[in-house]
Amino acid sequence: MIENLDHTTASAACSAYAAGSLISIEDLTVEQVSQILTVTARLENMPHAQRAQLLAGRRIALLFYESSTRTRTSFELAAKSLGATTTLVSDKSSSIEKGESLKDTGLTLRALGAECIILRHAASGAPSLLARSTGLPVLNAGDGMHQHPSQALLDLRTMLIRLPGLDASAVDGQSLRGVTVVITGDILHSRVARSNAMLLPRLGAKVLLCGPEPLLPHEALGLGEGVEIVRDFDAALRRSQVAMMLRIQRERLAGLELDLGEYISRYQLNGERLSAFAPNALVMHPGPMIRGLEISGDVADGPNSAIEDQVHHGLAVRSALLLRALGAGDFESVTI
Ligand code: CP
Repeated sequence: MIENLDHTTASAACSAYAAGSLISIEDLTVEQVSQILTVTARLENMPHAQRAQLLAGRRIALLFYESSTRTRTSFELAAKSLGATTTLVSDKSSSIEKGESLKDTGLTLRALGAECIILRHAASGAPSLLARSTGLPVLNAGDGMHQHPSQALLDLRTMLIRLPGLDASAVDGQSLRGVTVVITGDILHSRVARSNAMLLPRLGAKVLLCGPEPLLPHEALGLGEGVEIVRDFDAALRRSQVAMMLRIQRERLAGLELDLGEYISRYQLNGERLSAFAPNALVMHPGPMIRGLEISGDVADGPNSAIEDQVHHGLAVRSALLLRALGAGDFESVTI
């Protein structure tokens, strides 16, 4: 295990990383986000056979120290759709169980020919350490409570496609002007909330963070411009075009006690609340969701829900990130 690093340290020294790495959403300029969306759109429309040539013969390692369904599978399927060879190393079935360090695991993968590593780790800062110690491009697939940059990008693409009148193939600082997104639930432990709250305001959106004090302590968040705390979920919903719900991360609560009955009554997004306060809002959730806790089944499966779209867009967005990581020089010239 490596030591937990603070969030500032984790994002620092991004210039020390190999080109094409993505450690934090803050590492990307708005122009680079736009470029990724442009390539994503092109990839989605590209014939399969052509796409399968883009990374033919390249080697990508997936290194997962935490469970994952969506992120791991979509990165793996994305890599394969581009023609790359993948290998999966999980903490539960590898020499990590015998005590091998993150650095040595990364160096071993590099010696075996890996040209890029996709890392999920429980410790904030692990992708930064891996990128510096291997010199390989590293894609952060979620590190502790720090960042989940590819999730923020696929969330963005989902909003651009599902909200009316927006262009999903390019963005600038005004693209989400007039859009308010309420992110509700376990904000404190959420790397998804952190990445979205850093990205969306840079595109003109307003972000409302909503949750009870223990899961959203005012002083614990370095709130940036365009981000506001609203404790009253109903009031926040009234102002919002997008409602992004978060799971309570029991694995990170560390002894924190919550009255789940009270939580559900104040913060659950259910059919009654949605139709009363935001009947047209787009409903999002990064998953995994706990039906009946932060979201009711009827809302998760209802017409406002973009939850399956989010998963779907993960494939093309992560394909673009892999292409950027392995072919940075050609990235801008990907054509169909
Ligand atoms: N959203 C997300 O990261 O899901 P997984 O944990 O299943 O990858």
